[in-house]
Amino acid sequence: MGERDGVPVDWDSEFDTPGTIDTIVRDLQAAGHTVHCVEADADLPGWFLTHAVDLVFNIAEGRHGTYRESQVPAILESLRVPCTGSNSVVLALAIDKAKTKQILASEGLPTPRWQLFPTSTTALDRRLQFPLMVKPNREGSSKGISKESLVNDEVSLRRQVTQVIDRYRQEVLVEEFIEGQELTAGVLGDVVLPVLEIDFEPCRQSGERFYSWRMKEFQGNTALGLAPRLFCPARLDPGTTARVQDVARRAHQALGCVDLSRTDIRLRADGVPFVLEVNPLPGLNPVDSNFPVMTQAMGLSHDALIQRIVQLAMARYQMGRSVSVVGSDGWTAETRSPDRQMVGGQGVQVHHQEPSSAYAIASDGFLMARTTGGVR
Ligand SMILES: Nc1ncnc2c1ncn2[C@@H]1O[C@H](COP(=O)(O)OP(=O)(O)O)[C@@H](O)[C@H]1O
Ligand SMILES: [Mg+2]
Repeated sequence: MGERDGVPVDWDSEFDTPGTIDTIVRDLQAAGHTVHCVEADADLPGWFLTHAVDLVFNIAEGRHGTYRESQVPAILESLRVPCTGSNSVVLALAIDKAKTKQILASEGLPTPRWQLFPTSTTALDRRLQFPLMVKPNREGSSKGISKESLVNDEVSLRRQVTQVIDRYRQEVLVEEFIEGQELTAGVLGDVVLPVLEIDFEPCRQSGERFYSWRMKEFQGNTALGLAPRLFCPARLDPGTTARVQDVARRAHQALGCVDLSRTDIRLRADGVPFVLEVNPLPGLNPVDSNFPVMTQAMGLSHDALIQRIVQLAMARYQMGRSVSVVGSDGWTAETRSPDRQMVGGQGVQVHHQEPSSAYAIASDGFLMARTTGGVR
């Protein structure tokens, strides 16, 4: 994986595209909500001090720092602003793959054997069996994951660990590579969604056989040979499907995920579903993201999905069907609907800051993030 001007090419891959944000805003508006978009930059705490909102739709990846995804929810918690999805503790935990794996293992959930490399000279634990996977411990969107991440010997392992530490300035997770089917399983409320299978067989010519950064970034590009086939439900027998869904539900619970999550799994040939990681803030792009593919497979349109996330949050905060609203210029209003839960506010405001800063966007109660495309 390359660099441009000393910055990894994948630096902004976690941020949502303007298209994702627009779709979520439109979905919320279609349900009668008025939406403000607020960037998750240094001005965000001040914005919420001067604007009363009912609910934040959080899609903020955070700006920087070790546990960045937890920053916006932590700010909102301190200001007592209700927020969709998981809290700051869960988001901090889940971004740390090694800590997540410790919790999964303690709950008896299968996860590939692993070792954390704080430095490039850390001695290799001889219990680990090659081939091994080398990845940054605290990234997402397959940042830092390429064909070269799969290593067969210690020389390649050292080279790869050194490169990840240099580029991503963090400890490295080294894991046994699980040969098998790539699956991802979502939870929404108390429902486990149909399992999604990502089949890399059509990508043979590219030499890529797992969900690398290139695979996600250029997914669907047949010229590059990066067009995996998606099956939802996955091609699994009912017993295996039930086992995979059970693992996803237990992983969601073990981390304490709230309302929604997506658990990435490799299914070994003997049928053991190994959990790679848990995503409490899954991407919601209507075309590219895996979570909406799974909800669509059970007949939920994108706007129904967004509504469901809002409803789940409102139920947690025991919000009624009528919500009083304070707009950003200080006006107040009351929205009522006999058959809809309303969350109000006023016009959409998207503040685009310089691209190196953060990317949460709040709406009048709704927070989101943006970037360049690909699968989150
Ligand atoms: N131990 C592993 N065995 C097999 N494939 C793996 C392993 N770890 C990662 N991968 C591949 O890399 C992809 C991204 O890894 P993942 O741990 O989910 O990180 P991210 O947070 O970047 O999505 C996975 O979806 C899978 O295809
Ligand atoms: Mg993943």
